Amino acid sequence: MKDILTLGIETSCDETSASIVKNGREVLSNVINTQIKIHEQFGGVVPEIASRNHIQVISKVVKEAIIKANITTIDDIDIIACTYGPGLVGALLVGVSYAKALSYAIRKPLIATNHIHGHIAANYISHTNLEPPFICLVISGGHTHLVYIKNYSEFKVLGKTRDDAVGEAFDKVARVIGLGYPGGPKVDKLAKEGKPNIELPKIHIENLDFSFSGIKTAVINLHHKTPNINKADLCNSFEKTITEVLIDHTIRAAKELKVNKIALAGGVSANTYIRNEFLKLQDMGYKIYYPEPILCTDNAAMIASAGYYSYMSGNTSDLNLNAVPNLNI
Ligand code: KG4
Ligand code: ZN
Repeated sequence: MKDILTLGIETSCDETSASIVKNGREVLSNVINTQIKIHEQFGGVVPEIASRNHIQVISKVVKEAIIKANITTIDDIDIIACTYGPGLVGALLVGVSYAKALSYAIRKPLIATNHIHGHIAANYISHTNLEPPFICLVISGGHTHLVYIKNYSEFKVLGKTRDDAVGEAFDKVARVIGLGYPGGPKVDKLAKEGKPNIELPKIHIENLDFSFSGIKTAVINLHHKTPNINKADLCNSFEKTITEVLIDHTIRAAKELKVNKIALAGGVSANTYIRNEFLKLQDMGYKIYYPEPILCTDNAAMIASAGYYSYMSGNTSDLNLNAVPNLNI
């Protein structure tokens, strides 16, 4: 069969990214232009500033992805996959508009791609043998979903957060205790110097949904009420409590569905403590997968991979495509 080269374009939040992926699994280039430094001073992503920066760099980022992939001409690209949701509407529109214009200009199919499907597909790149069915725990700044991937195009949400996303809780805790933005990697680092000696509340939910606002508020209150609290211990205890809930629900889902392959995805799956705790499940017979760190946070290679599988299932979009900020899985 002829190789298929996908150009992926991602602009849903604060990363402008373009990537060329061969046959959904082999990354030829993955250029990521992050705006973290720009938003850092505001303590979080400012949507208008994100959109403007996407516009300023998108052409340069796509060109760089094409050059780095070592392909001879833009016509070598077979399909164009772009994130159309979920995300910030203004930011999404930049990538969607660019992809539509390029698709029209070079007459190649446009594939509207779901950002969450992208996070899940990052695992196909890092584990070239991974095939559905499996369970994926998608944990990022905006999402906390436990998903059953029945095949490359059928997804079933088993549980999701009722309030904060896990990454949101990490970022909020980090901000309050003075670690700065984005908080996840900073909590990850400081937690390594601490001990899990602080009791934090865990909300028990009968079904597979999650809730993280209680633990987030407890950490914030403890920090305010206990002036000399050890921040490393607080971060360590926070990670431990969150991970116990994530593992408990994932195992319950795996048992219910009789699935032994478990994947992690999304920015928070870069967390060292969470990865190590999930790896321990291998002793119980589970196979654990997670993407390499650069593919955990937002990038266009994962969008190219998800777009490729969507195209193989028969999906294409036309030039009426619009951004869908609240798109579901
Ligand atoms: O997937 P992502 O780049 O964007 C969304 O789709 O939301 O995830 C970003 C989130 C942020 O909340 C960030 O703090 C978190 O992922 N994150 C981490 C780590 N690296 C990134 N959280 C915990 N530990 C990390 N090492
Ligand atoms: Zn994301």
